[in-house]
Formats: sequence, C-alpha cells, structure tokens
Amino acid sequence: MKTKLLTITDPEVQFKEVQEAAEILKQGGLVAIPTETVYGLAGNGLDPQAVKNIFLAKGRPQDNPLIIHIESPAQAEKYAQEIPAEYYELCRRFSPGPLTVILKKKDCIPMETSGGLDTVAIRIPSHPVARAIIAAADLPIAAPSANLSGKPSPTSAQHCVDDLWGKVDAIVDGGDCMVGVESTVISLAEEKPILLRPGAVTAEQLREILPELEIHQAVTGELEQGAKATSPGMRYKHYSPNAKVTILNGSTEAYTRFMAKQAQDGVYALCFEEDTVGLTVPYIVWGSLNNEDSQAQHLFSALRELDKLGAKKVYAHGPSREGVGLAVYNRLIRAAGFDELDLSEEEF
Ligand code: TXA
Ligand code: MG
Repeated sequence: MKTKLLTITDPEVQFKEVQEAAEILKQGGLVAIPTETVYGLAGNGLDPQAVKNIFLAKGRPQDNPLIIHIESPAQAEKYAQEIPAEYYELCRRFSPGPLTVILKKKDCIPMETSGGLDTVAIRIPSHPVARAIIAAADLPIAAPSANLSGKPSPTSAQHCVDDLWGKVDAIVDGGDCMVGVESTVISLAEEKPILLRPGAVTAEQLREILPELEIHQAVTGELEQGAKATSPGMRYKHYSPNAKVTILNGSTEAYTRFMAKQAQDGVYALCFEEDTVGLTVPYIVWGSLNNEDSQAQHLFSALRELDKLGAKKVYAHGPSREGVGLAVYNRLIRAAGFDELDLSEEEF
C-alpha cells in the first residue's frame, strides 16, 4: 500500500490536508493521527471492515477493543447507553483531554470495535489536529495507539513511519505528542468505578468526582493469575525492549554508584538529567527527577532509542509514583517485565 505523509501544524491553515485525511477515513481507510497523548491509528469505528484493517495493520489480537474518539460529551449518547451523571461531571472537568471512559455500548458500535464486549471506550481528545479531523470526518473514530503490537506507543510521526509505512493510507505529522503516555482509562460500566490504566488524569483528580474509584490491581503489578482482566489489554504482553530492563529505585547517588559497577558492553543507563554528572556508562536521558511530566513525554522515545542503539542490558532509574508518575511507572514496569530493585536496601 502507498502511504501518504500529510503535515498539519495548524488545521486552519492546512484545511485541505484535514479534508484529505477525513475523506480517507470516510471511505474506510486508515490514517495515523496525532493526539495529545500518543499517535492513534484511526479508522471509522462504525465500519467493521475498517476496524478489521486496523487490527491487521497493527498485528493486534482481535479481542482487544478499541477506543472511539468523538468531539463532545453530547455525542456519547449516540454510541453509549445508561450513561451515569458522573460521566458528564467527568467531562466538564477533564474533557477534552487524556481521559477514556468505558460505558455500556449501543448496538451501532460493531462487535469488531468493542472486541466482542457489550461496552465501548470513549475519549474526547484535545489535540487540535485530531479534533479537526474527527469533526471533518463526522464519525466516531476508532484509534488504538499507532504502533505495531509489541512496540512502544508512538509519540512522533517518525515513530508511525517506522512502524506503519506501507500499511496505512496516510500518516499525519502534527509534531511531538505533549503528554507522551496513553490516556487514563476508567470504567463506569462495572459495579463500582474502577481505574484500569493510569494516565495524565490522575486517580487523585478523579476521586474528587468519583470518591469510590478503585484502582485495578494490575495497574501497579502483574495481573494476578485467575484475576479478571477488566480491560483485555491487561492480558497481553506489553512492549518489551530487546534489552533486559531493570528498574533501580533510590537516590541519584545510590543509582550512579550502582551503575559504576555495571560498566560492560551493551549496558546502558536510562536516567534522569540529574544523574548524568555521576554516570560512567553510556546513557539515555528520559526526563528530569521529580518532573513526572517530562518523564511521561520522553519514556517511549527513549525506549525506541535504546533498541536502535542495540542495548543489551538497561538499568532505569525508578520514577516516583506521584501524579502522572503512576502512569510512567505502570508503562516502565511492563517494559522491565516487573524486574525492580530497591537500592536503599543495597549494601555499599
Ligand atoms: O491515549 C490513548 O488512549 C490512545 C490515543 C490514540 O487515544 N489510544 C490507546 O488505545 O492507547 P489502545 O487501543 O492502544 O489502548 C486502549 C486500551 C486497551 O488496553 C484496551 O484493552 C482498553 O483500552 N479498552 C478499550 N475498550 C475497552 C472496553 N470496552 N472495556 C475494557 N477495556 C477497553
Ligand atoms: Mg496501545
């Protein structure tokens, strides 16, 4: 398939490109589009064939449902039913933005989109380019992250080119994603509201509207055997780099001291800016200490970079779990296959 690259920095200036992307979507085609979280692999969420093609392009298991992206909370009524009042409260506070809410679905949402479930995940993105394309297509846009299954989510158009060139009709370059980790996913379709995937909208913020919000056990650990994978995505192996990754929790001093003993071919540090002064092994910086936003922004590109460098063993300096840090930790611990070491317990 021939893939077209469309650059849209301002949807009002490049309105022709917006129309072109929308037209491809209306005709059942696939377009990688920027959102504020990560790039999405967009298709018409009402068209079973378009949705099947999304799964094929990504190499994604068909029972892992897709999020639909809409323009406004009012549109949710077209695709979901039994919508609780809290949904609208959440939207007033957090939409448009990096929050996805799972609701009972209406029949118009095909089983292909919902992965056979009776629910639908809905998000109202804030990225101006995503919004312009959704509005022009006038469709609920199904969009998983635009990576090949098993790769980190893409946070730049180049990442989409690396993964999907020749597999989609178009890739829209709208610059780097601001948030860098995927949206927060919560379900309002279970007995109690539950957080299934942490993101930039934090559990603390959500609890102001949903005081009873539970956090699924798999958010901070491995899905327990026999536990219910409320979100099918929890069951699947997530991105694991070619290198073996270990998370090291502790101070800059403890981290750099530990790293000094690891110098060997293929060993890399995945570190904070503040660590670099003391490091004697090659490193990739993925943010700064105590700045969870910067860590979220750069984590996925740093992981892709380490693969490109041929890293064999990576020691990542463990993030805090405050605010968006919980989302960062949730992604990193999966990349590390849950291998974590507490340096404060180490003898020096
Ligand atoms: O930020 C994001 O959410 C990005 C951008 C493109 O919007 N999208 C994204 O989609 O991350 P995806 O498909 O890579 O991740 C969606 C997650 C999956 O783990 C999936 O299992 C879960 O949400 N999910 C989707 N629909 C669901 C449903 N009806 N019930 C439970 N989990 C659902
Ligand atoms: Mg994904």
